Amino acid sequence: MKIIITKDYKEMSRVGAKLIAEQILKKLNSVLILPTGNTPVGTYKELSNFYKKKKLSFRNTTTFNLDEYLGISRKSPFSYYRFMQDNFFTQIDILAENINIPNCEAVSPEEECKSYDYLIDKKQIDLALLGIGQNGHIGFNEPGTDPMSKTHIVELSRETIAVNQGPHKAITMGISTILSAKKIVLLASGKNKAQTIKEAIEEEVSRNCPASYLQSHRDVILVLDKDAASLLDKKVIENLEYHNVF
Ligand code: GLP
Repeated sequence: MKIIITKDYKEMSRVGAKLIAEQILKKLNSVLILPTGNTPVGTYKELSNFYKKKKLSFRNTTTFNLDEYLGISRKSPFSYYRFMQDNFFTQIDILAENINIPNCEAVSPEEECKSYDYLIDKKQIDLALLGIGQNGHIGFNEPGTDPMSKTHIVELSRETIAVNQGPHKAITMGISTILSAKKIVLLASGKNKAQTIKEAIEEEVSRNCPASYLQSHRDVILVLDKDAASLLDKKVIENLEYHNVF
């Protein structure tokens, strides 16, 4: 695991965007996993600016979103489809046919899981960009999720419903798919993520904290602002390949 500690959210977003841009410049037809939430908004803004300044093109990039709520319309303010359109996809030159998001309006969510896995299994994921939930979830893989899981339906935990103030049911890419990415970049910002980040990195791998599964992956970069990193043990930081960018 590598760790990059940045001074604030803005710096975290810049570093996140730089890592994505490097990946795309290295391989134009990169396949990315993308998250939603407040955390990646700044990164999406930076990437859109790279596109506007003609430094980067997404024409050959394919994306798979991590998760989506179920039983809502795509127009709903909760829809991650809408979130991605508003915060990223309408600002860049990605082709509509290269965007993959589970369908929140699916008549058969079980069939939707199967077809999402079918699409993912045809590709090799180059980079997974992740956020982290306060209870350690990645995507909507809540505490207790099997590390071998593929795309599945989730009854969200009380904690997640309270934090997100959203619907109770979702569809998420599984842990095994996330871990199949060649590279993983996890972004976290703010004091409310500090305890979760500490558990994910310093404690043993456990189903209780799905983000701890990342410890078993050979190419993970954690991009944290100093608040999210504030509870980390200095010795742990020394043992990770550490970069301070401020
Ligand atoms: C949701 C998403 C996660 C995301 C998490 C954190 O639960 N399903 O993929 O990582 O929110 O959100 P935020 O970045 O707003 O803290």
